[in-house]
Amino acid sequence: MNDKTKYQIMKNREFLKGYHAGDAGAEQTDQEQKLPGISSLKRKKHRNVIPLPAEFNKLGISGDIWDLIMGRESCRKFLPEELTLPELSFLLWATQGIRKFAGNKNPITFRSVPSAGSRHPLETYLFANHVKGLEKGAYHYLPDEHALERWEVEDDYDAQLTRALCGQHFAAAAPALFVWSALPYRTEWRYGLKAAKYILLDAGHMCQNLYLAGGSIGCGVCAIGAYDQDYMDEILGFAPGPSDNPLYECTVYAACVGKKKRNASDA
Ligand SMILES: Cc1cc2nc3c(=O)[nH]c(=O)nc-3n(C[C@H](O)[C@H](O)[C@H](O)COP(=O)(O)O)c2cc1C
Repeated sequence: MNDKTKYQIMKNREFLKGYHAGDAGAEQTDQEQKLPGISSLKRKKHRNVIPLPAEFNKLGISGDIWDLIMGRESCRKFLPEELTLPELSFLLWATQGIRKFAGNKNPITFRSVPSAGSRHPLETYLFANHVKGLEKGAYHYLPDEHALERWEVEDDYDAQLTRALCGQHFAAAAPALFVWSALPYRTEWRYGLKAAKYILLDAGHMCQNLYLAGGSIGCGVCAIGAYDQDYMDEILGFAPGPSDNPLYECTVYAACVGKKKRNASDA
């Protein structure tokens, strides 16, 4: 390991840490300075959206929490079966769905997953490859409407997606691929330098919900951390960083989903 790498690793280790007693006199956060924050809901691009079914009682959600946790494993081989729209709807709800709104002037959302300060910095993009009732393509999830909007990507994105996933074709070709981005300023506004750590913690909770919710409806999931940052951001149309734009957005995580084969773990 050369000195430059060692230095960067030491800096990264510091990033893992929480508050230090000496931080008390540090610069005020933007919230403390009474600067306006940004919404935890990205403004939709399209008027026409695809509403998602919200009755989950017909899905046959099964398993007690013990079975779901014991049976949780990463799945990289899927049955050649489509996901259904109610199944996908449930998985989107389980990962970013809104349980309640609070506040009037600057409403905040409480969702199916925890988030530091309920800032909810994450957005969900979905590549639907085999979902019954949903045209193949990319979508953006709108948690407040529990709906999807089309997201403009090239029609024939398969090869691009495999490249963006560092050659992981099983994930690119899965019935559904969730790609999660962060708008860091949502969290930075309140937590300043601690925000990056919290955003990644939020992402972990969310993906675990996808594993458990998937397991409850016979779906397998594989978390994907190995992706090409620049290429994935380009596919989704995010401006390249570094940037101090409050609306700056970048990919942080992904996961693929499909109907589960028995003995599907292939780690
Ligand atoms: C942050 C993170 C990133 C991961 N990235 C990948 C990935 O890019 N490709 C992959 O096949 N598995 C990936 N995985 C899945 C792990 O390989 C898997 O969790 C591990 O092998 C343990 O297996 P299990 O999930 O079945 O317990 C990732 C898991 C996590 C938590």
